[in-house]
Amino acid sequence: MQNFEKQIDEILAKLTLREKIGQLNQQETPVAANAEAFKEQVRKGEIGSILMSVGATAGNDAQGTISVDFYNELQKIAVEESPSGIPILFGRDVIHGHKTVFPIPLAMTASFNEELVSKSYSDIAKEASNDSVHWTFTPMLDRSVDPRWGRIIEGPGEDPYLGSAVARAVVKGLQGENPSEDGKMLACAKHYIGYGASESGIDYHRTEISDYTLNNYYLPAFKSAIDAGCMTVMSSFNDVSGQPVTSSKPYLTEILRDRLNFNGFVVSDYDAVAQLIRQGVAGNDADCAKMSINAGLDMDMHDKLYLDNLENLVKEGKVTVDTIDEAVRRVLRVKFIKGLFDNPYCDKKEIDIEKHRADAREMAAESAVLLKNNGVLPIDKSESVALLGPFIYERRTLLGSWMLDGSAEETPNIYEAIKAKSKGSIEAVNGVDLSWDSAVKWANLCDVTVLCLGESWTSTGEHRAVSNISLSSDQLDLIKRARAAGKKVVGVLFCGRPVEMEGVADNLDALIYAWHGGSEVANAVADIIYGDTVPSGKLPMTIPRKATHIPIYYNITSSGRPVNNYYGENAGECYVDSIPTPYYPFGYGLSYTEFKYSDIECKNSELPLDDIKNGKGFTLCVDVENIGKFDGKEVVELYIHDNLASMMRPIKELKGFKKVLIKKGETAKVEFSLGYNELGFYLANGDYVVEPGEFTVYIGENSLTERKITIKIKG
Ligand code: NOJ
Repeated sequence: MQNFEKQIDEILAKLTLREKIGQLNQQETPVAANAEAFKEQVRKGEIGSILMSVGATAGNDAQGTISVDFYNELQKIAVEESPSGIPILFGRDVIHGHKTVFPIPLAMTASFNEELVSKSYSDIAKEASNDSVHWTFTPMLDRSVDPRWGRIIEGPGEDPYLGSAVARAVVKGLQGENPSEDGKMLACAKHYIGYGASESGIDYHRTEISDYTLNNYYLPAFKSAIDAGCMTVMSSFNDVSGQPVTSSKPYLTEILRDRLNFNGFVVSDYDAVAQLIRQGVAGNDADCAKMSINAGLDMDMHDKLYLDNLENLVKEGKVTVDTIDEAVRRVLRVKFIKGLFDNPYCDKKEIDIEKHRADAREMAAESAVLLKNNGVLPIDKSESVALLGPFIYERRTLLGSWMLDGSAEETPNIYEAIKAKSKGSIEAVNGVDLSWDSAVKWANLCDVTVLCLGESWTSTGEHRAVSNISLSSDQLDLIKRARAAGKKVVGVLFCGRPVEMEGVADNLDALIYAWHGGSEVANAVADIIYGDTVPSGKLPMTIPRKATHIPIYYNITSSGRPVNNYYGENAGECYVDSIPTPYYPFGYGLSYTEFKYSDIECKNSELPLDDIKNGKGFTLCVDVENIGKFDGKEVVELYIHDNLASMMRPIKELKGFKKVLIKKGETAKVEFSLGYNELGFYLANGDYVVEPGEFTVYIGENSLTERKITIKIKG
């Protein structure tokens, strides 16, 4: 990356204190009535960045479409009329799509396909940057094990290793080799840190995270984004064990900069600086600004407390000019890296939307997880289909929440998608226009019933936690009645989160978890139902039997007591009234074809610790044979367990995965290496250690695999 420090020094030398503070101020796009006053602020150099949306939960609210002319006009004022001529950085929540909407991030994670995730975000960057967006507030990397949390849809699920892979892929897709290139955008890793641990799944609630847990479960995905070149980080609303992140020097400076070597800038979340008052650690606005800037928070989103207070705070000696200069330097560095000084304007280009739609269809298909199949899928195109359930004509929900610019009207619904492929008759009942009685009549008469079920996009996203993660009672009723008809019953679930599975999968012959899969999910589901695409997604989160088993995740530590192993097949003795084994475990997902794994081979099962520290590693290998009737992709997963360590280690942790296409009758040799980066863990103080001793390595189709081998690091 080019070094811009000399240019930055020159700019800094010319800026007044007020202009410097302006660079740290982000305000939202003005409504028409305030436009002139806003332009005046731009003219005075008071606006460093614009949030291209309105409202604290912008992603959940309808937003106006972007006027490129207006943003170019504002930019022209900044560049030609403000004293410093520094261009404005435009940021928007382009979370999983712009015009073309890709699956929600949790679903894209289910693809276990880094390359495809990158390609999707590269399409997204092309579309959004063509609409003036320089900077998007994604990837959201909040590990979470609570599906009640509405924002679970935006993140990578329960696993830090998978989260790290997604972080890398998103940053690479958005920024490319160089964010200043045409069609690229700046990424923002958020919400740093711990937001996904909000107690009870209630958004914005307190979190309780020990340093050991933070280092091993919550930080790795952020480290990965930073290592991949992510130049901005958004601090989170929450506190971690009583310490609001917005004003935390330990989190924003000591860990983020000193330990993770982040050298971009940190933006607050919306009004989070002002929120310090309600969090009870700041007495007034000035204190909020002082505490945040001194903690290392560079840009203030929306509440204007930096703009209104920092000058005085400097005069009073409570904030130093050096602190301000350092924050401005970081903001300018990012503006240079984005190439804003060379090309501040948006110059509209033709975009190949058709290609992006095809990519979205591929991504939706690879994100879908086949959870059950009694051999009924794929169905023959000539079969008659009873297409039932509340989601058969639905368009908007398929796009998911945090969707500002896609069009529901241009989103095919599942009825249209099935109809386009079928050569048999289709009878459709959505339960709104006609009752389930007529639905069940068709379930009796048709060869196969396809139930389109799920949850509305309005129960997902920011500030949209739910206390009940089961399907609605009328949907559960429909499943039972369709089952009673005695024909083949296929369920398709359009959900943003794992839902309670008891009473759902048990009554279906086949189940496709299609998520809120974006603009092309209906077509992707039809491709899967008719066998034109072979499913290959795997679960990024455990699906529980009952909501009351939450939190349930695979990478738990051993209790040493009888409840141990409840995540496996063992019922354990956790509850006297229910069995808390996962209904579907992390990493689970079926294909239409069948894969046969060989035993694990390891050529060098013992290595001295010094060799590991010097970059050597274990090479492990399995043969995976496609013994079924379809060509298909398999996600081969590798887990480790550190058998004896100075701290309790998870019973299994994902440390490798590869998605491979294996043609029917063929065998793929899948190789992994395990070395320093995979075999260690973080202590509470942040030190990374690899300890000698034995490790069990598992390779297989999901997190319950028992195919294993032992390797040893000699001390
Ligand atoms: C609040 C959300 O927490 C954050 O994710 C989003 O980027 C900002 N608002 C801006 O809309």
